Amino acid sequence: LPRAVLRLAARRGDLQGRITVEASTGADLTGLFDEIRARGPLAATKVGHTTTRHAIVRDVLADDAFVTTRPRFGAGILGKLAAWSASEVTHPVQPPSRLVVEPPAHTRYRKLVTRVFTARAVEQLRERTQAIADELLDGLDPANPVDLIETYCGLLPVTVISEILGVPPQERATVLTLGAAAAPSLDLGLSWRVFRNVESTLNTFDAWLTRHLDALRANPGDNLLSRLIAAREDGAGLTERELKATAGLVLAAGFETTVNLLGNGIALLTQHPDQLATLRARPELWSNAVDEILRFDPPVLLTGRMCSRDTTIAGNPVRRGQLVTTVLAGANRDPEVFEQPSAFDITRPNARDRVSFGAGRHYCLGAQLARMEGEIGLRTVFERFPGLRLLTGARRRPTRILRGFERLPASLG
Ligand code: HEM
Repeated sequence: LPRAVLRLAARRGDLQGRITVEASTGADLTGLFDEIRARGPLAATKVGHTTTRHAIVRDVLADDAFVTTRPRFGAGILGKLAAWSASEVTHPVQPPSRLVVEPPAHTRYRKLVTRVFTARAVEQLRERTQAIADELLDGLDPANPVDLIETYCGLLPVTVISEILGVPPQERATVLTLGAAAAPSLDLGLSWRVFRNVESTLNTFDAWLTRHLDALRANPGDNLLSRLIAAREDGAGLTERELKATAGLVLAAGFETTVNLLGNGIALLTQHPDQLATLRARPELWSNAVDEILRFDPPVLLTGRMCSRDTTIAGNPVRRGQLVTTVLAGANRDPEVFEQPSAFDITRPNARDRVSFGAGRHYCLGAQLARMEGEIGLRTVFERFPGLRLLTGARRRPTRILRGFERLPASLG
């Protein structure tokens, strides 16, 4: 959606517009989430409904009546934008990306892809992830202030993703540049300039992927993308477009989400030295700490679903064509599920009930990987630099769906 439409909607008090516009300022949205929750299971917006109730978010995401498919637009400018997105070029959030395909195609995908993205495959990446974290931190001089987003949080996930996609070292720089330019496609309200840049980058990325998939077919390596190329179900594997879309989404996710988990985690832990002290004394709590970071400041603020047929949610009618915005960050603060939801507590017994990776059939494919990277990435930086403290100048990204830091200046000494 264009930025101007969102701003106009917000000015008119529309909740959907308010969430996205307030999110882009980096403001604390807890008050707005509470306001939405107080309106009942579903609160009306100009285009449908929104919810910050944990149970309703889970219900909507699990319900077959609610789909990820985008609406069809007619002739006009929106139609032109939609025609671009329906082009043959790989797009992380347009079909056949897994994110926006529904059963039965999605079920087949999910089966094939989860067979490759197993917990075991993620465990095998643990050692390599540790080595990458160590290498990146070796390059930092504790005597000088650094921006941790630029030097660490942004680089760790994309390096791991490059390994997953089997990108040869000499091509990593190209993929990093392409991925960084295409990644805003995961967000809402892009300016026209960024939109055009994303479009041309996706074309270049598509051409690169064609060559890369051919190379992997000829010379399969020990990487997840090679295994995905080989995966078959009833004799059939993923199509070229499906493979490209999955690779594109995995790359975009590596750029836009895990970086936020690391950045948000560093910010939260430096602001809560008592929690960091607990982690130093009890390192076995790191895994739970990552879930609490994901709950408290989730990298993906919200997602949404189109209603494909007239139905009801908690007794409220929802009509075909309406959009339901499920605010993951709001559900994570639901007092019905989380005691003292506004307290950041790494020992919270049910931190894993967070919906930061979504729910239902589109539950994040990279959840295990992201949690593993979060745990290694955060533990390593705090162990290597016990004196780490943030300096002034931290800046939130002006994004609407994604939530994280653009800059995180720190002193390591
Ligand atoms: C889906 C969050 C990291 C790959 C999702 C969804 C969320 C999410 C909320 C569901 C979207 C919806 O239902 O509309 C996150 C967060 C991450 C993260 C918070 C990091 C902290 C990753 C990584 C990968 C990945 C590292 C790549 C391996 C995917 C894919 C889907 C997905 C492929 C689509 C699944 C489907 O539709 O079946 N993610 N993600 N994510 N994520 Fe992630």
